[in-house]
Amino acid sequence: MMKVDYQFDQMADRRIDHARKWDQKIIQSKYPGTPKDCIPMWIADMDFKAAPAIDEAFMKIAQNGAYGYTYAYDEFYEAVMNWHKHRHNNQVEKDWITLSYGTVSTIHYLYQAFCQPNDCVIMNTPVYDPFRYAAVHNGINVVANTLKLVAGRYEIDFDLLEEQLRTRRPKIFLFCSPHNPSGRMWELAEIKKVAQLCQQYGTIFVCDEVHSEIILSGKFISALQLPESYYDNLIVLTSPNKGFNLGGLKTSYSIIPNEQLRRTFCHRLEMNSITSPNLFGVVGIITAYNECEDWLDAMTDYIRENYRYTKEFIENNLPDWQLMEMSASYLPWIDISKTGKTALDIVEPLAKIGGVIIEPGTNYASDGENFVRLNIGTPKPILVEALNRIKAFMVKN
Ligand SMILES: Cc1ncc(COP(=O)(O)O)c(C=O)c1O
Repeated sequence: MMKVDYQFDQMADRRIDHARKWDQKIIQSKYPGTPKDCIPMWIADMDFKAAPAIDEAFMKIAQNGAYGYTYAYDEFYEAVMNWHKHRHNNQVEKDWITLSYGTVSTIHYLYQAFCQPNDCVIMNTPVYDPFRYAAVHNGINVVANTLKLVAGRYEIDFDLLEEQLRTRRPKIFLFCSPHNPSGRMWELAEIKKVAQLCQQYGTIFVCDEVHSEIILSGKFISALQLPESYYDNLIVLTSPNKGFNLGGLKTSYSIIPNEQLRRTFCHRLEMNSITSPNLFGVVGIITAYNECEDWLDAMTDYIRENYRYTKEFIENNLPDWQLMEMSASYLPWIDISKTGKTALDIVEPLAKIGGVIIEPGTNYASDGENFVRLNIGTPKPILVEALNRIKAFMVKN
């Protein structure tokens, strides 16, 4: 097949989709006085145009001009099952799949389905903050299993984990795989150990695999690769939103092999009237999975080069910034403790004076005070300019 040149050096016009990432009103409310030409490297979406097949699929609907209530029809299930088999070697059955409105809201429904107020959930920290606040908003306690930083990469403290599972008896372990922040990919032995401990202590193993499509090095292993003996306790959450940059469609799905768990979860969805899905969301998933794999691979190559450039730039120009080795996604996680400053000391002046908006590690659930996160899902010329601005700022401050 002829390779298509997708032109990732060109950016989509982010005013048209009113992207939160670029919106001046939002930027100014958060960082008043930030220059108008600032470069946002914060909110996790990418600046590339989506795969052309997705535009065409949406245009077909728009040209027809009907936007009625829809449902999860057979093509959706087939696309999900085929994708998992082909891309991740996962054998998923149709009944296991449940469509819902984005992973974050699904986490809320899961907590509501399986926890009572004052119950606990456990997660590795630092972690994507909605894992935590979904619990807090539902009156559920969070047990933080702090990741250990060993030779520049995160490791799970299994002794502490076992102790926490035994003494706190959390209802759910919300596991992030690959992990956000850091893009650390877990190995099968690690996933299996977590699954084993969860099974032993009666904790439901929920695995968020949202970041599993952009793989920069190594091979992603899904929790669905575990032996079937773990399936009765397993819930996988995923979507093409990160990989194909479709977050605004607010559509995702869960994979729950066990019928009883699935029933309890689906009952909770019904109680929240999560029934008819977003018309474009379903089409987005089907088209991404059926027609856009070459776009995903080409985009991943582009991110890999952006990552190589970023790593080299930081090594050569920002000696006090330690970039953690990243295997997945487009969000490098940087330890800035050697600067003697905290993330908050850097992020606000960098926005207002330096003209680059990055994410402070404090926006993650626990243990991110000495980290900042960059978003390199952007055309390389923008990335180069942003890194030069960061260097100029850090030299002076
Ligand atoms: C680990 C993780 N889960 C879920 C999400 C968001 O998923 P969704 O847009 O489907 O709610 C993100 C977004 O950054 C994420 O990092």
